[in-house]
Amino acid sequence: MSILGLERVVYGVEDLALGRRFFEEWGLAVDGDRFKVADGTEVVLRAMDDLDLPPPVEPGSTVREIVWGVESRAALDRLAERVGRETRVSRGGDGSVRFFDPAGFGVALVEARRLPLPPVEIAVNTPERRARIDAAGAFYKRARPRRIGHIVLQVPDIPAMERFYRDALGFWLSDRYPERGVFLRGRAAADHHQLFLLKSADGRPHFHHLAFEVHDLHEVFGGGLAFAERGWETHIGPGRHVISSCYFWYFRSPCGGSVEYFADMDSLTEAWQPREMPQSPEWFAEWALASGVRQYGGVQR
Ligand SMILES: [Fe+2]
Repeated sequence: MSILGLERVVYGVEDLALGRRFFEEWGLAVDGDRFKVADGTEVVLRAMDDLDLPPPVEPGSTVREIVWGVESRAALDRLAERVGRETRVSRGGDGSVRFFDPAGFGVALVEARRLPLPPVEIAVNTPERRARIDAAGAFYKRARPRRIGHIVLQVPDIPAMERFYRDALGFWLSDRYPERGVFLRGRAAADHHQLFLLKSADGRPHFHHLAFEVHDLHEVFGGGLAFAERGWETHIGPGRHVISSCYFWYFRSPCGGSVEYFADMDSLTEAWQPREMPQSPEWFAEWALASGVRQYGGVQR
């Protein structure tokens, strides 16, 4: 199967002006009601009472449609047929497929249109190998997210959601918190997780967070510092996850849930053996700060 990753995430929000300022300062390029990531994938903001949006799973500002990019039109047609055996689907003129997952989230599949990112050499000096010579290291005055990495949903029935995403949509299992959560990726060779399903504490579905990949860990810190300086509230971070190994910094979003900068996530293939581990602080993070760090003053912003 052939889901490459998140192509678009559509929010329905209470305060459009605030949401626009949030995602612009987050580092996305504004194009009308669309907010572009460097690879051409995007966040879209709409008014929460927009009748064209799928109904919300929860009150207030939240994600209304999760759009996955599929590698080809032929693959899209195959997926439409498979999903159609599980639930009702509607097709758009461009081949797009729309349906609701078992938790009630509006989901769409479209042909992926993402742009290739030019390769960038990250020069890191190690004791064994000096790769950066006569050049200062990278300092980021703000983040410029390159890709939308993953989305996290809290759901009441994990087995039903896992079955749907694996059987109908071809997602692969990466790791599992038994009874508590599953880390999934759209195809064998992909980021450690592109969809993380977490057991909902209150028995209802919720959008939890959307994660944006930045270039390297310096951009997590530099971008996070700049975003915090603009007054946006840290949810947790910076820190480093144990599962998937990435560096992270989460901020609360006025559009619902949180957003995350991350860098240096594990990249898997079909050779990866899924693990089971308890859902505990030790597995959540090697280390994390509860409420951000402050700029010390070394970099002019
Ligand atoms: Fe995340």
